[in-house]
Amino acid sequence: MAERVPFVAGNWKMNFGPAMASQFALALRPQLEALTSRVEIALCPPFISIPAVGQALDGSSIRVGAQDAYYEDSGAFTGEVAAAQLAGLCDYVIIGHSERRQYFGETDVEVFLKAKAVLAHGLRAIVCVGERLPERDAGRTAAVIRGQLWSGLGGLEVSEFERVVVAYEPVWAIGTGRAATPEQAQEVAGLVREELQRMFGPVSRKTRIQYGGSVNQANCATFFRLPDIDGALVGGASLKEQEFVVIVQSCAQVAAGV
Ligand code: PGA
Repeated sequence: MAERVPFVAGNWKMNFGPAMASQFALALRPQLEALTSRVEIALCPPFISIPAVGQALDGSSIRVGAQDAYYEDSGAFTGEVAAAQLAGLCDYVIIGHSERRQYFGETDVEVFLKAKAVLAHGLRAIVCVGERLPERDAGRTAAVIRGQLWSGLGGLEVSEFERVVVAYEPVWAIGTGRAATPEQAQEVAGLVREELQRMFGPVSRKTRIQYGGSVNQANCATFFRLPDIDGALVGGASLKEQEFVVIVQSCAQVAAGV
């Protein structure tokens, strides 16, 4: 972890319209700004609130992220927002979140096309992977994760891959209050790093791997201390001002060796 700056991102999901989002970002800003020397931090509002959050954070080192992006640059794709349109409005884009895969039928091929488009437009991608409970129970976790990595990222150039963060989010841990154990998280994060090494070589030592799934202020430090975990993708707890600040503080403390 020493050679990687940890990264904590708050995935607000379908919460906070522009006014609320701006207010929330303004409240977080002074508390988080001081921590950005040790932790990279991103807030990921719904599309409609991205400009408001960008304005609230203007001039700070806190990043803004989107929760999805479409791969075509423009055209007749009702309801979609293109990676090309997000360029300049945000820094990161979450790709392949399990809720998108589960509720919106997003496939590994689309994850690849979206990642490619996001990177082509100079943005950074947080690419999510994770197994479902029946897959874990059937002993298929490693195979599922490897499959998602190869089909989602395998076609990228090394120079593109350098702007990718991988989020390991076991589907059964998301929004359930049932986080993975540190052992489970490290086992899969280690496997992710090994596979990335096979795919992209030594640059993968610099790749940040976040853990996501019921991260809260009580359990976050146990994840931040793991050798192959470099931060977290936080859902529910990122909607609570004090709890999110405590999570980022805890990450900064672990990074400082406290
Ligand atoms: P959760 O969500 O923290 O609410 O479990 C995590 C995520 O979906 O990224």
